[in-house]
Amino acid sequence: MQDLIDKIKASKDLAQLEALRVSVLGKKGYLTTQFAKLKELNERKKKELAKSLNEEKEAFNKAYEQRHQELSKLALNEDMKKDALNFSYFDEGCVSGALHPINSTMDRIIDYFVSLNFSVEKGPLIEDDFHNFEALNLPKTHPARDMQDTFYFDDGSLLRTQTSPVQIRTMLAQKPPVRMIAPGAVFRRDFDLTHTPMFHQIEGLVVEEGAKVSFANLKSILVEFLHYFFGDVKIRFRPSFFPFTEPSAEVDISCVFCKGGGCRVCKQTGWLEVLGSGVVDPNVYKFVNYQNVSGYAFGLGIERFAMLYHQIPDLRSLFEGDLRLLEQFR
Ligand code: DAH
Repeated sequence: MQDLIDKIKASKDLAQLEALRVSVLGKKGYLTTQFAKLKELNERKKKELAKSLNEEKEAFNKAYEQRHQELSKLALNEDMKKDALNFSYFDEGCVSGALHPINSTMDRIIDYFVSLNFSVEKGPLIEDDFHNFEALNLPKTHPARDMQDTFYFDDGSLLRTQTSPVQIRTMLAQKPPVRMIAPGAVFRRDFDLTHTPMFHQIEGLVVEEGAKVSFANLKSILVEFLHYFFGDVKIRFRPSFFPFTEPSAEVDISCVFCKGGGCRVCKQTGWLEVLGSGVVDPNVYKFVNYQNVSGYAFGLGIERFAMLYHQIPDLRSLFEGDLRLLEQFR
């Protein structure tokens, strides 16, 4: 038996091992024939031989199982080697990609407001008049509709001109308090050096029950945000008008190009407008059935933030798909 066990240990592959097993346990195998002889023996001898045969069988099986495991593993490894793909092919000439500056800017802004517990809401790009205008306190005849050159469809629906309709959708779906931002694409019939028909905005809205929220809250959050985004800039709030906020303010930062000294980009004023904002006009709450609440809202253009932050001189370069632009942001 010992020399059989040695043979098992020395077997080189599963086929050899199987041949050994058959030679011992197969129909005409060594142990099978030995067991067959038992019935010719008397009780005492039968017992003796059976005992030693069973021991041999057990020793054999043990050695067989162990070698079977070892050889199976080897066979698997061989198979894997045969099937392996050669990835070294990709080692050379591999270039890493880069986020488009609009995406990275959007991500930075979203991260900031998410860290302040704002939820991120979405709305459809094809809007209706109610959400894009009416409920934002812009009745049909309101002259402020001209501020936004709208793409209309024949059925009266439109491409949203701003992310503000997501305010309305969120308030209609949710009870106060609301604390949300809404990033996304918007569309206007505008195309020149500083305008593209599609661009991106982020809308912000905070509404609380009672009179908790004031212009002071709006001001402090926007000042903090602009310092986070642009670093050490001066900030000023300038009275303005938006139909859905009262009072309203536009927010300027000192020019990032000339540091406020006056240049072509800031039209010699030293200031750059970056945000629209205000205290939510009570009329808006009527359209969403909110009572006894207070809130503020703000909206900003991502392209403008990206261009000022990265000092990109031409808006159109953001939309040309030229890889040389992206390569600079790796
Ligand atoms: N929706 C405005 C626009 O597209 C931006 C804006 C201004 C949003 C003031 C606001 C806001 O929420 O309070 O020009």
